[in-house]
Amino acid sequence: MGAATELEVRGLDAFYGTSHILHHVDLEVPAGSAVVVLGRNGAGKTTLFRSIMNLGPTVKGSVRLFGKDVTGRPTYGLARAGVGFVPDDRRIYSGFDVVENLRLGNFAKGSRDVEPMTPEEVFAVFPLLERLAGRKGGQLSGGEQQLLAIARAMVARPKLMLLDEPSEGLAPVIVRSLLDAVLDLRERTGMTLLLAEQNVPFAMRVATDVYVVEEGEIVYQGTREAFEADPSIKERYLMV
Ligand SMILES: Nc1ncnc2c1ncn2[C@@H]1O[C@H](COP(=O)(O)OP(=O)(O)OP(=O)(O)O)[C@@H](O)[C@H]1O
Ligand SMILES: [Mg+2]
Repeated sequence: MGAATELEVRGLDAFYGTSHILHHVDLEVPAGSAVVVLGRNGAGKTTLFRSIMNLGPTVKGSVRLFGKDVTGRPTYGLARAGVGFVPDDRRIYSGFDVVENLRLGNFAKGSRDVEPMTPEEVFAVFPLLERLAGRKGGQLSGGEQQLLAIARAMVARPKLMLLDEPSEGLAPVIVRSLLDAVLDLRERTGMTLLLAEQNVPFAMRVATDVYVVEEGEIVYQGTREAFEADPSIKERYLMV
């Protein structure tokens, strides 16, 4: 693997108990790229992310992060190495307000030599959150919670951010805010992204590279340009 590969998954098999979910998955996330994993419901996107983050599935194969083998490392160790993870269920603390939720993002920094983002810096990227600053997490809409979850993951200035279906269940206007925030973040920080999506138009606005997963296997890998130039892939693997 080249020095500029931030995340490399090799020959990954993942299991829930005796259910064999992922089959020999290879994935590479170059520094500065935005890699999108597309796939239908149940294809294995969340399982892939949870396998990378060591959050549940039993895995075989290897996960290398920033040039080091981290297979089997505890999740907090990965966060402290500079990975931000926004799970599909968001995990916002309902009794804490927006600013308190953001401050919880500081913990992911560990001993890395970075200054956590202040709420003001976060609000520059997510203007919508500023208006909600004093609101409790439990009083936010699903879309607002999603923005907050991404903002919170950003506070520790991760080098690599994993977003599991960020646009899922969001109204078009919130998807638009999300897109603006993600593009703005990439521009400001050069952050590398790995995202799972089913919303192809959204994914195409962000992606540099595309993988398609189907029944736990990678069935396509290419640049965004190559993916867009071949509509048959979308028809075959992503249409319902
Ligand atoms: N905890 C679990 N135990 C057993 N099987 C599971 C578990 N979680 C997911 N699965 C199965 O693993 C397969 C892949 O699920 P996964 O959640 O990774 O899909 P996904 O691509 O994220 O789908 P979605 O787009 O609906 O989020 C599915 O067949 C699912 O039923
Ligand atoms: Mg999922």
